[in-house]
Amino acid sequence: MTEPLSSDQHGEDHATDADPTIDRVLSRRAEALDRAAGDERPADPTGYDGVDGDQLDREERSALRRVSGLSTELEDITEVEYRQLRLERVVLAAVWTDGTAEDAENSLRELAALAETAGSDVLEGVLQRRQNPDPSTYLGSGKAAELREIVLAEGADTVICDTELAPSQRRALEDVVKVKVIDRTALILDIFAQHAKSREGKAQVELAQLQYLLPRLRGWGESMSRQAGGQAAGGLGMGSRGPGETKIELDRRRINSRIAKLKRDLAGMKTHRDTRRSQRISHGVPAVAIAGYTNAGKSTLLNRLTHAGVLVDNQLFATLDTTVRRAETEDGREYTLTDTVGFVRALPHQLVEAFRSTLEEVADADLLLHVVDGSHPDPEGQISAVRGVLADVDATDVKEVIVVNKADLADPEVVDRILHHEKYSIAVSARTGEGVPELLELIADELPKPDIDIEVLLPYSRGDLVSRLHDEADLLSEEHIGQGTRVHAKVMPDLAAELAPFVATTA
Ligand code: GTP
Repeated sequence: MTEPLSSDQHGEDHATDADPTIDRVLSRRAEALDRAAGDERPADPTGYDGVDGDQLDREERSALRRVSGLSTELEDITEVEYRQLRLERVVLAAVWTDGTAEDAENSLRELAALAETAGSDVLEGVLQRRQNPDPSTYLGSGKAAELREIVLAEGADTVICDTELAPSQRRALEDVVKVKVIDRTALILDIFAQHAKSREGKAQVELAQLQYLLPRLRGWGESMSRQAGGQAAGGLGMGSRGPGETKIELDRRRINSRIAKLKRDLAGMKTHRDTRRSQRISHGVPAVAIAGYTNAGKSTLLNRLTHAGVLVDNQLFATLDTTVRRAETEDGREYTLTDTVGFVRALPHQLVEAFRSTLEEVADADLLLHVVDGSHPDPEGQISAVRGVLADVDATDVKEVIVVNKADLADPEVVDRILHHEKYSIAVSARTGEGVPELLELIADELPKPDIDIEVLLPYSRGDLVSRLHDEADLLSEEHIGQGTRVHAKVMPDLAAELAPFVATTA
């Protein structure tokens, strides 16, 4: 059974379709069209003006969107051709083995959202019900032939499969459908490549891409060149680069040495980050990490909590690099807030590996705010996907609070269900601010509090310690006397240790 998805397959508006994911995809397209036409955004009934934070680089990022007709000719394999995939008119294909029809459709809808994020137009999505994917062509051979018909009818240039295909499966399916076939992993890697900004993020993604590419060198583009009359015929485009044995060997060696270099560079960057982190720890500044499924609203929440201008975009994976902000509790205790990369179901393992050191920051935090989009059709599925990745990087010891976001949109019953099920949880709307004061209170309660009672007499030469007391301690009294500053305060253990030589002996 091959079922076309009943969703937005032709880029038309389906005003009656209430699915939020589809709506998101559609609204993104509408927004893009509005922008292209120079239109004003329509007023939001909630008064939301479309600006969450300072929108620092929205334009810069939209500039990364795919432009049709650009050549993808690649001179040097180390440029990583996956970064330059030309995905314009795509048909999605998935095999549905277990779970409900709804799960299968949600998965395909998510793939559609990912494909759109990568800049392509999704024309059609097909699901095949099957015990197991076909080992040679993923879809069964009859269905693969049907897929070819759909590709022809739609004028598609790419098929994206909702899985990680074995290299041979990809080639065999490409032989049948006669357009480029890529898998979910390559798609996610492509999006990450578009969104990486920092040097570390870029290196991490490139490493993941190369590791993905290495076992797939043979035949990338090869099958296309075997196809007489395929779009790659005529010595143009990717098909013409079917690498011969010698070229594959050469490429493999170059890729391996590039991988080695990236790993060395990343190790250096990790040392730098570790130094910063240990400075934070030695200053006793507690850390709060924000993690969550892509598009859950992590950046919006970070903005709410700190008024920082972090990019917020209704795009998957707008945030790729960790962002660290300083914040303060109501009673003046300083802490850091770190936004992490968006998670996605079955995040390619190459990426989890590459991002391991970044994700380890979560393991190091004093508190984890796990943000989930309460308006998503399957928030619990997202929670477990995120927990799966956190377990992979051994970040399960940190106290986790489930922050059910988008309470303004979500079905209250769903919100209650999650709150009931998750012991430490809170509902908020990062957009309207609902629940945010309670969340701030919760953070303040959870963070370690200074509780060592100390009375010190600090000589005037130790103004540095006085100012640390102001920043980090709970000041009970302060008095300037002849010999220096006399302070009574509650402090954290590290500061207590430093102040030990100055403990006042007489009252
Ligand atoms: P990634 O960068 O993909 O990991 O996304 P993110 O989790 O950082 O999400 P982001 O903050 O970019 O928000 C995604 C979309 O959800 C944006 O369009 C936000 O405006 C919207 N959004 C965030 N919070 C809320 C909320 O509380 N209510 C509503 N209605 N929309 C929200």
